[in-house]
Amino acid sequence: LRAAAAAVTAHTRWVDDFPSPGVRFADLTPVFAHGPAYSAVVAALASAATDAELVAGIDARGFLLGGGMARELGVGVLAVRKAGKLPPPVQKCEYSLEYGTAAIEIPDESPSLRGRRVLVVDDVLATGGTLRATLELLERVGADIVGVTVVTELEALGGRARLESYPLTSLVRL
Ligand code: PRP
Repeated sequence: LRAAAAAVTAHTRWVDDFPSPGVRFADLTPVFAHGPAYSAVVAALASAATDAELVAGIDARGFLLGGGMARELGVGVLAVRKAGKLPPPVQKCEYSLEYGTAAIEIPDESPSLRGRRVLVVDDVLATGGTLRATLELLERVGADIVGVTVVTELEALGGRARLESYPLTSLVRL
């Protein structure tokens, strides 16, 4: 985990006042674009729950991580989408972001998530609104959350407290 964390720290690009004034955006694009860094990150996050049966990646950068982690674990992958992208029927949850509001969706029935061991991934944990909404959706359809993983956790924004007792792994805490 330490090598992965070092790679993240070395390659993260910080952008002030994006996407709105006062927000400091952690851009992980260079981390993902660097082969050894991406491999180390994917392997480290996948190791958080080797008993997972499915990896759920959150729109949009969670998709890049989730696919790699699913391959690492030999399981399938599910895209947790921003609202309006999936065909009906869907389960939907609205949430507030560090900047603005949004809603996310997962398929209602296909695939059936009842009783499935799901590992959740996103790139950044800020206020925790996105992950909270995702966990609420997955719980609603009966999934068993075996792990919640992010590359970078922005501790000052208090996201961890909003995820209650879920097992949370973050590679870098700032
Ligand atoms: C960013 C990030 C997380 C979320 C974290 O996504 O990728 O998904 O914000 O914030 P939170 O913990 O306060 O909810 P963003 O909403 O910018 O969407 P994008 O991935 O489509 O750019």
